[in-house]
Amino acid sequence: MNKERKLIIAGNWKMNKTVAESCDLVADLKRELAHLTSVDMVICPPFTALADVSKIVQGTNLWLGAQNVSEHPYGAFTGEIATGQLRELLVHYVILGHSERRQFQRESDELVSKKAKTAHQASLIPIVCVGETLAERESGKTEEVVGTQIKNSLTGLTNEEMQETIVAYEPVWAIGTGRTATSQQAQEVHAFIRSRLAEQFGETVAKLVRIQYGGSVKPANASELMSQVDVDGALVGGASLDANSFVEIIKNTV
Ligand code: 13P
Repeated sequence: MNKERKLIIAGNWKMNKTVAESCDLVADLKRELAHLTSVDMVICPPFTALADVSKIVQGTNLWLGAQNVSEHPYGAFTGEIATGQLRELLVHYVILGHSERRQFQRESDELVSKKAKTAHQASLIPIVCVGETLAERESGKTEEVVGTQIKNSLTGLTNEEMQETIVAYEPVWAIGTGRTATSQQAQEVHAFIRSRLAEQFGETVAKLVRIQYGGSVKPANASELMSQVDVDGALVGGASLDANSFVEIIKNTV
């Protein structure tokens, strides 16, 4: 697929897989994808599997991501994990502000923006998630909600940091429901996000930022979604837990 920005496809395994299962899955992915260079590929296993998976992906084109990080660089924060501890395991990306964390851990835009800043300070690339609920979409509030999340979750980043940051548009109603946004719905919101990024960080930066779509991405719909001009990749949940379907998603887009 010929795109203005290089596609980035990430698998968010969420709270699934033991260490042994994670290693098996990543060994399968490595066999199929290790040498593919036309798409950036990221896998985000649970924290418990990062160390072992990190060893398996070294020397391949599979990048490692974490699913969360503390906003503090170190210290007395029981149960939290620091950027430096992720970097030690050669983690390069970190998912921030996923709707499940916004909903169940009450993460605010302000917290997400602090985490994004801390991530950049440690050379970790944040994947910052935004997206509206079904009720918000049905009451015509998609742009208001997503616009506010974009403004407040990315505040404080420099232009240099922003152009490296990945944004993931994940409509909450499409996550784990099998109900994906149409490619047109995705494109509309992605274009809106890019216009807001241009207001906040300037046109040049906005043109460089890669915006992933997430929410029931499957082998059957990935290519159509990613053919849209402002859709620069995918953040895949359920379908990334199975090697065949994740590989197919990636191969369908190259
Ligand atoms: P599903 O692909 O399972 O809908 O999950 C999407 C998601 O939340 C990725 O972060």
